[in-house]
Amino acid sequence: MQIDYSKIPSPCFVIDEERFRNNLALIKHVSEESGAEIILAFKGFAMWGVFPILREYVNGAAASSVNEARLCYEEIGTLAHTYSPVFKGNEFKSILKYSSHITFNSLNQFNKYSGLLLKYPRKISPGLRINPEYSGTAYELYNSCSPGSRLGVTAEDLAEKGLPDGIEGLHFHALFESDSFALEKILESVESKFSRFFPKLKWLNMGGGHLMTRKDYDIEHLIKIIRHFKEKTGLHIILEPGSAFAWETGELVATVEDITRNQGITTAILDVSFTAHMPDCLEMPYKPKIIGATDPVDGKPGYRMGGNSCLSGDFIGDWTFDHELKPGERIVFWDMIHYTMVKTTTFNGVQHPSIGIWTNDGIFRLIREFGYDDYKNRLS
Ligand SMILES: Cc1ncc(COP(=O)(O)O)c(C=O)c1O
Repeated sequence: MQIDYSKIPSPCFVIDEERFRNNLALIKHVSEESGAEIILAFKGFAMWGVFPILREYVNGAAASSVNEARLCYEEIGTLAHTYSPVFKGNEFKSILKYSSHITFNSLNQFNKYSGLLLKYPRKISPGLRINPEYSGTAYELYNSCSPGSRLGVTAEDLAEKGLPDGIEGLHFHALFESDSFALEKILESVESKFSRFFPKLKWLNMGGGHLMTRKDYDIEHLIKIIRHFKEKTGLHIILEPGSAFAWETGELVATVEDITRNQGITTAILDVSFTAHMPDCLEMPYKPKIIGATDPVDGKPGYRMGGNSCLSGDFIGDWTFDHELKPGERIVFWDMIHYTMVKTTTFNGVQHPSIGIWTNDGIFRLIREFGYDDYKNRLS
């Protein structure tokens, strides 16, 4: 059932239950067929109001901080697989409390905390993040294997002394919105550099970046390579995608508040901001899709979309519409759930979009509204 955007308050992030369930069902299918444990990376999607739906399909999460590990414990009801580039001494006790697996980014970090971990009254499985030195992503911002990367240990780091005793798993994250063929290439690199350690290990975490819910993704190929790798190595395989869970599951609904013209450029000023509510558009950067609009076409009404913050660069161009835009009109940004929601800020004190769900009954349910207190409480 299609979302009726006229029923959604503005501004608002709205997730579509049907599309969300379709993604979850596909991920569950991949997990069952491949034998891999697939958990949600909270950094990409942490809208816990819909976790009762998520829990029907998946029961684990990858955390990158104490807060995310605690959210997993409290809202999914399981212990987290936790990895962070660095753990602070004053938070490590809480990391232990909320985690079943803890992956360290460096040998220093493992050496610093392994005593505490191994003495903990409940069994926690320690791992080490490796850098396979091959990524295949075209976006430098997301390339964890770029020269000098701070993320993970290289084969060279382990050349002399090997893996320290106690490490039970290896973890790599080197993909970004990638297909299964990119994973296959990375696995070749991981095997050639690290397979001598496999007999000592219990698990291999293949990180995120597996965009298995994208329409052209070759699911059968993914299942085949994971199954094959699992049979060959005997390792328990874990995947922790974020984007794939919420890919194309919902939109950011906005409203045109004003139209400005300057030097031949017409801008629709919205009640949302790119920098505060869709920061990846400026960071990555990328131009989002707007429902009902196209790339520029000569002779048709064309607009730049401007945010409501005072940042000069808070705009993206250009789109063509089949009619002149007027204040009050809805603008719906496509695919604005994964990463977008978790990265919002209250810069300029601009109104944070509400959060809601379009249910399978064709009803909009508001989950959260934001107000002055949400803005104020972050600042003092
Ligand atoms: C360690 C780790 N795991 C998982 C993910 C999730 O990746 P994605 O959302 O691209 O699937 C990330 C993303 O940055 C990550 O850094």
